[in-house]
Amino acid sequence: MSDTTKLVSSFYDRFPFPGEPLLDCKPPGYIWSMCFDAVYSACSGALYENLQAKNSPRILDAGCGTGVSTDYLAFLNPDSEILAIDISEQALSIASERLRRSGAFAISNITFEKVSILEIGERKPFDFINSIGMLHHLQEPYIGLAELAELLKPGGIIHLLLYAEGGRVEINRIKKVLKIIGLQGNDDGVSLGKSLLRDLPENNRLRKHYFDMVASLCDDDKSFADIYLHPFEINFNISSLFELIDKSGLEFAGFTNPNVWELQRFLQGELLLRGRSLPLIQQLQLIEDLDPDLDHFEFFLAKPPLPKFEWSEDSEILRTCGRISPCVSGWPGQDLLDQEMNPLTLDSKAYKFLKILQDCPQETQLVDLPLDFSSEEMASIARDLHRRNVLLLSPCRNPAT
Ligand SMILES: C[S@@+](CC[C@H](N)C(=O)[O-])C[C@H]1O[C@@H](n2cnc3c(N)ncnc32)[C@H](O)[C@@H]1O
Repeated sequence: MSDTTKLVSSFYDRFPFPGEPLLDCKPPGYIWSMCFDAVYSACSGALYENLQAKNSPRILDAGCGTGVSTDYLAFLNPDSEILAIDISEQALSIASERLRRSGAFAISNITFEKVSILEIGERKPFDFINSIGMLHHLQEPYIGLAELAELLKPGGIIHLLLYAEGGRVEINRIKKVLKIIGLQGNDDGVSLGKSLLRDLPENNRLRKHYFDMVASLCDDDKSFADIYLHPFEINFNISSLFELIDKSGLEFAGFTNPNVWELQRFLQGELLLRGRSLPLIQQLQLIEDLDPDLDHFEFFLAKPPLPKFEWSEDSEILRTCGRISPCVSGWPGQDLLDQEMNPLTLDSKAYKFLKILQDCPQETQLVDLPLDFSSEEMASIARDLHRRNVLLLSPCRNPAT
């Protein structure tokens, strides 16, 4: 292990993260970015299974911490084969207990292993890699990303979260102060760090930022330590993020929160037109600068080739097989929550379409659903439900039929 890895490992042995309580039930709700069907559909436009003739994905949870992500991966991808790795013995032992209590071991085939991503070596390749908040704790994140890329199957996807410097200005100032004053990642550091923030003048911007934006996430000492007393982290901006991605040879496949990366959140009229005429990276840089609260980047990378399905032709979409996304709440019903937990009301035709789809065998092509809609109507309903991530589509196995 390198010196940085040892430092990071002993920090997480002291403050295993995240500090979520262990539950005797499956994890609440869902996180769509950890459901491979939903992720693959968002990135490519289709489901993975028919493309690869394989049903259950092989998943790596790299830097699994105390297993909150592994628990979601197990339940959102039933029957999958999951390898969850971390360098902290303590975090792994909590993770294993968390999944024992949630019942996840009966849902998926899960193995925990104490190993650094930098020393993982050769493994059977993975379809999906989840790595939340790990790469930015490596001395050289691009080496970690190269390892992840090596472990991924062609056409597979990585889900990553990295710190964004723009939204962490206040945090980084406090981190610097705590470091100069000599506080470290231990109980004393947490208690003195909290009292420093509490005792700053009431209208101090750093204090306000802490109480308005961070304190609610820092009820437990582990989170406070993770945010303010971590011994090693690197923050990214759009430019260094895309440098990292370019170096990896992977393809950027979209943010998990595409609405946040829309220029029209900030610009209108002539200014919006000017913004949209810029290259993509500059558009993202504008958003990064206009939104000072962006404190992380959460996104997907694909190992080429990643097929892309637009479904613009009616004849193509009608020859797909459809499935209702597991990341939609409220079904069966017309008032749903979409995968982002936003309200979504189905009109009566869309509701009828989904109801009939659900009652038909899974391999039924949309064109063969017993519905009295015209082909144009059917294609338009399917396209709209697919755009809203309610309907997941499998390309026809044999386009000639
Ligand atoms: C911020 S925590 C995130 C935990 C988990 N991914 C989550 O989001 O709930 C980062 C985790 O990455 C692990 N980690 C850091 N460097 C690593 C390395 N080189 N190899 C494997 N795990 C590492 C740490 O031990 C820690 O548990």
